[in-house]
Amino acid sequence: MQESDIEINVKGWVRTKRGSKNVAFIALNDGSTIHNLQLVVDLEKIPESALAHIHTGAALSVDGVLVPSAGSGQKVEMSVNRIEVLGTAHPDEYPLQPKKHSLEFLREKAHLRFRTNTFGAITRLRHAMTFAVHKFFNDKGFYNIHSPIITGSDAEGAGEMFHVTTMKLDAIPKTAEGRIDFKQDFFGKEANLTVSGQLEAELAALALSKVYTFGPTFRAENSNTSRHLAEFWMIEPEVAFFDINDDMDLAEEMLKYLINYALEHCADDLAFLSKRQEEEEKTKKAEERSMELIEKLKFVLDQPFERITYTEAIDILRDSKQNKKGKFQYPIDAWGADLQSEHERYLVEKHFKKPVILTDYPRDIKAFYMKQNDDGKTVRAMDVLFPGIGEIIGGSQREEVYDKLLSRIKEMDIPMESMWWYLETRKFGTVPHAGFGLGFERLMLFLTGMGNIRDVIPFPRTPFNLEF
Ligand code: 4AD
Ligand code: MG
Repeated sequence: MQESDIEINVKGWVRTKRGSKNVAFIALNDGSTIHNLQLVVDLEKIPESALAHIHTGAALSVDGVLVPSAGSGQKVEMSVNRIEVLGTAHPDEYPLQPKKHSLEFLREKAHLRFRTNTFGAITRLRHAMTFAVHKFFNDKGFYNIHSPIITGSDAEGAGEMFHVTTMKLDAIPKTAEGRIDFKQDFFGKEANLTVSGQLEAELAALALSKVYTFGPTFRAENSNTSRHLAEFWMIEPEVAFFDINDDMDLAEEMLKYLINYALEHCADDLAFLSKRQEEEEKTKKAEERSMELIEKLKFVLDQPFERITYTEAIDILRDSKQNKKGKFQYPIDAWGADLQSEHERYLVEKHFKKPVILTDYPRDIKAFYMKQNDDGKTVRAMDVLFPGIGEIIGGSQREEVYDKLLSRIKEMDIPMESMWWYLETRKFGTVPHAGFGLGFERLMLFLTGMGNIRDVIPFPRTPFNLEF
């Protein structure tokens, strides 16, 4: 038997159908690749009436034989023997037509947008990156920790939490003093969705040495930007015996590993996303256009990241033309200011022209757990800043000295009852340790060249947006 005689079955969804008198062409896609399979239907073999219900969006099961393609778009195509319509999609009703839809429109059709080229590519890339994260850490001897999603503490101490309760909201029990009586709630105390798995990862690192979490995290910050989600995924390694320099080395190595993995395993999807971005860029002014996607990924791989202190960054920003001409929305005048994304991007895109790791931030703008420097002013924090994104990673060496941590917790008015277990690790076999958090969707923004974080997670959760 010749190879071309082997009949195979394919199933998928119709992207387009076109035809002439004797032959019909159907582009079929099952989501496994950006490329469609071209079905060639000989209308002498299969009556046109059998194709009447085949429109964009319909699901088919098709038997046929793969043959070298006469057309230029593909190497092979399928010569169809039998065709079965599994599910129709009425052309007057199906929202996705074979034309370019806006990303805003597709957000409203998030139940169907997986079926577009763009979201198919992003979804496959997101999967590959999830796998690569686990592979990276597994190969390095890290253990994956499942940190809890419901917690009783605020890991970042920023109070940006969603409450979790089974109390009836229209009849919340009160104490004699008129406060909410959480003793009557499900857990007998106040509960919320976690903002970070770090504190639990620290507990595990102080026994297993090298651990990481990769889970959903929740922030009730009301920031309606293209880089913030209320529900996002975070990767948080935590390593015993690491200092801040080891931490930076790990962060840089991991980011480069993931970017390289994408280049090696997702070439077709990246090529598609690159073309998509190029189209998008045409609408922008020349100076606002970003680098071609694959070139940008390789560029980051080739560069050692710049490492400077917050204090050095403030000097650069304060003396910049941008600042002097009043072009920052938030002008930089004094040491101590929190950096906005416009400042982070200036450092990365204009000044150094490569990723930057900023260290030793003022302690007053960072979380309670960060290791305090001897200057009494700064902490051993490190943020990784990326082109087009700003902060992609936030991390630090942790305060491992019991008394120093305790005094910081008291200074910052963090409720002690919820923190006793965290403090106790500093009493029993405490060691220097460090870790960081990579925002998975920020990484996906960088890799895909998409402009809005709502388009790199299947079902984004943002203020006033909870459909699907
Ligand atoms: O800088 P953050 O708040 O750090 C932590 O949560 C630490 N506990 C991490 C650690 O040391 N283990 O958040 C870490 C990263 C940010 O750099 C950013 O990439 C991402 O998480 N991130 C968000 N991504 C999307 N939407 C939001 N609202 C985000 N907030 C933070
Ligand atoms: Mg941060």
